[in-house]
Amino acid sequence: MKIQFLGHSAFYLEEGRFKALTDPFLDDSPICNISSEEFKELTHIFLTHGHFDHIGDAVKLSERTGALIISNKEICEHLNLFGVKTQIISIGETIEFEYGTVKMVAAAHPSEITHGEEMKDGGDASGFIFNINGTKIYHPGDTTLMEEMKDYKIENIDVALLPIGGTYTMDIVEASKAIEYIDPKVVIPMHYNTFPVIEADPYEFKKNSEKIIVLNIGEIYEI
Ligand code: NI
Ligand code: MN
Repeated sequence: MKIQFLGHSAFYLEEGRFKALTDPFLDDSPICNISSEEFKELTHIFLTHGHFDHIGDAVKLSERTGALIISNKEICEHLNLFGVKTQIISIGETIEFEYGTVKMVAAAHPSEITHGEEMKDGGDASGFIFNINGTKIYHPGDTTLMEEMKDYKIENIDVALLPIGGTYTMDIVEASKAIEYIDPKVVIPMHYNTFPVIEADPYEFKKNSEKIIVLNIGEIYEI
């Protein structure tokens, strides 16, 4: 399967007919030079929480491609106002689809939705554990280090996408601890250098574990 880094928490996942985006913050991202227009076919969009840098271009992508948006109840209800297709998933729940499953897991982070001048309740922030044809990918969304990441060891995660930018999420030190907790085979850093407040050097992070692979924006890791 293909895992393409699109900057921030945005990844394109592809396996056969499964073509998905996570947290598609593309067109307004200061670091992503790949337009949302480039994604012609999408089956799913997964949203970890309600912040603008995670909902991103989900509505226009779903309108254009018909992709099903999978997120929590509050975010799905909000997005339904725009007439897009959504499916609610709750923390602890697993959804099956043609190429595998996705489980929603907890994250320690707020999740408000900005709607014009208004701030709406975005429910609980989350992460996802994907199992696509036997390959397990953990996308934690925005989160600080959590003790329960130790429980993910038994999941045998192949690829953990870990935020390292600090301020709103784990920083390099905490993300290095998370690698010990989760014990994945491969780690790809995310959620850094998009904004000055989340500046981090992924190559500093890479010094802490040989499992770490730094992807440039647009670069694909194949597993
Ligand atoms: Ni956030
Ligand atoms: Mn964020």
